[in-house]
Amino acid sequence: MQRTHTCGELRKSEIGKAACLQGWVQTRRDHGGVIFIDLRDRYGLAQVVFDPSHNKDVHKKAEHIGREFVLEVTGKLRMRKEGMINPKMPTGEVELLVDELEILNESETPPMEIDDRKLPNEEVRLKYRYLDLRRPSMQEKIILRHKVMQAAREFLNSKGFLEIETPLLVRATPEGARDYIVPSRVHPGKIYALPQSPQLYKQILMVSGFDRYYQIARCLRDEDLRADRQPEFTQIDLEMSFPTQDKIFEIIEGMVKHVFKQAKGMDIKIPFERITHHDAMERFGCDKPDMRFGLEITDLTEIAAKSEFSVFKNVTAKAGKVKCLCVKKCDFSRNKMDELIEFAKSSKAQGMAWARMQGGKLESSIVKYLNDNVQKEIIRKTKAENNDMLMFVADKPSIVCAALAALRNLLGKELKLYDENEFKFAWVVDFPLFAFNEDTEKLEPAHHMFTMPNEATLKYLEAAPEKVIAQCYDLVLNGVELASGSIRIHRKDIQERVMKAMGISQEEAENKFGFLLEAFKYGAPPHGGIAPGLDRLCALMAGTNDIREVIAFPKNKAAECPMDGCPSEMNDKELKEVHIRWDIVKK
Ligand code: AMO
Repeated sequence: MQRTHTCGELRKSEIGKAACLQGWVQTRRDHGGVIFIDLRDRYGLAQVVFDPSHNKDVHKKAEHIGREFVLEVTGKLRMRKEGMINPKMPTGEVELLVDELEILNESETPPMEIDDRKLPNEEVRLKYRYLDLRRPSMQEKIILRHKVMQAAREFLNSKGFLEIETPLLVRATPEGARDYIVPSRVHPGKIYALPQSPQLYKQILMVSGFDRYYQIARCLRDEDLRADRQPEFTQIDLEMSFPTQDKIFEIIEGMVKHVFKQAKGMDIKIPFERITHHDAMERFGCDKPDMRFGLEITDLTEIAAKSEFSVFKNVTAKAGKVKCLCVKKCDFSRNKMDELIEFAKSSKAQGMAWARMQGGKLESSIVKYLNDNVQKEIIRKTKAENNDMLMFVADKPSIVCAALAALRNLLGKELKLYDENEFKFAWVVDFPLFAFNEDTEKLEPAHHMFTMPNEATLKYLEAAPEKVIAQCYDLVLNGVELASGSIRIHRKDIQERVMKAMGISQEEAENKFGFLLEAFKYGAPPHGGIAPGLDRLCALMAGTNDIREVIAFPKNKAAECPMDGCPSEMNDKELKEVHIRWDIVKK
């Protein structure tokens, strides 16, 4: 028989009607010989009743039903008895009195309950992912992801973008992470790589004249995993010909707005705020600032250099920085401060000094090293008021930024400085083309070699490369890097200059990206693009930072899938076929 209703659909208005439901047994209760079952499907829960005084045979058949059995039940809809009504359930006023029961399938006792309140550990959840995905809260997240993808497609289609697939077996083209590789059977000793992103292919599609491309693209990167990083993940990847940075921002803002409206019924305000990379680093200590709250960083380097505090003096003498956070109305205990010092150390800071503002003065173990003038200047610059707490980190610039940015995020969360339900987007623009590596004390390319320098700063490329700004941008949402993109170099002369400045030889470039350089010889249009991470977007929309929550079959922290057991071993015959012999595998 066909079901007449889904389990989430039964309402009081249909009392007295016949209905047939199909679904899984969520719970089963026996009350004075009457069996009550909550039957579950994607749409909700329905209470079904097996009453021996109504139908003895069906009741008998129902006696051995267990959790997660798959049932088909037919009967009549009736009101629940007084006291049995559940106002929290959409179907909570009614129940189905069963006349016919078919057990469509039995289930062994499941190794986990389909219940958000009784979650097993992650390994069990991933091993039995099909059971984990039966939980309504997981279904909601997967459905949200579906809606996000559909809305993104809808929007991009309406703007003339073409959805074009690019290959999964590609030439290894380094993009920052390590490649996953696939040995070739037909070509002994040769490999394919799995794409870290469709980057070069989408640029070639611009050379082909497609003008506007997008793809909900799977990307594969062999890198260390975190809550917001998976070895395979998905991007809403796009590229445009003849774009301006503003045009790309407009498209993404429109897409984000449409996606939030369609998938969450929310109105997102556009355009998004813009902040330069320089300002983001100065004010928030990182290039993906959480802009939902203030608690900005103050640079005290010049003032600290005038103090007698040896840590400050040593650091400033070696071109380090002294910066601080001023936490308003803060009554942290000494123990709490010790905890925060340890936290700062986990970002490689040597330590963290602190001072409390009391009676218009600073109080702290270090104030004896800060003369009146220095104290006054610190108070003026940080705008500290009574009961505020100043937290100082003095170190190499990158460590100061990293430690204070992490501390700021922690305090923002702990002190509830923002509304957790807010979505605060911002564009981070004007990244430098080169980044200074404090360990090697050398400038290094911060992006791939196809990122176009900003016209006005191109003149510094050879003489003062640290001044060159890249036409490269990130979209951040609540402190997470959501998307990254750039205007690309399409002209040979600029390409050659940038390669030279980056220390990439012609030979190396030919070897790595030769096919793209070849394509560029035949009329490459100006082009640029961006790729929002779909998993991160969906996770944040679902209220989590863990992207595994919005991926149907994610890998665990060790890049394994506990369900199918990959990666798995290869036997000798299989190895031989792809011309591989394990030489240095450590057991
Ligand atoms: P990028 O490498 O910055 O840029 O990636 C773009 C976005 O993809 C998401 N992302 C990830 N999500 C989950 N797990 C990962 N391991 C992971 N790595 C990246 C992030 C990130 O912002 N080809 C360029 C884009 C371009 O220039 O058009 C690229 O891939 O949300």
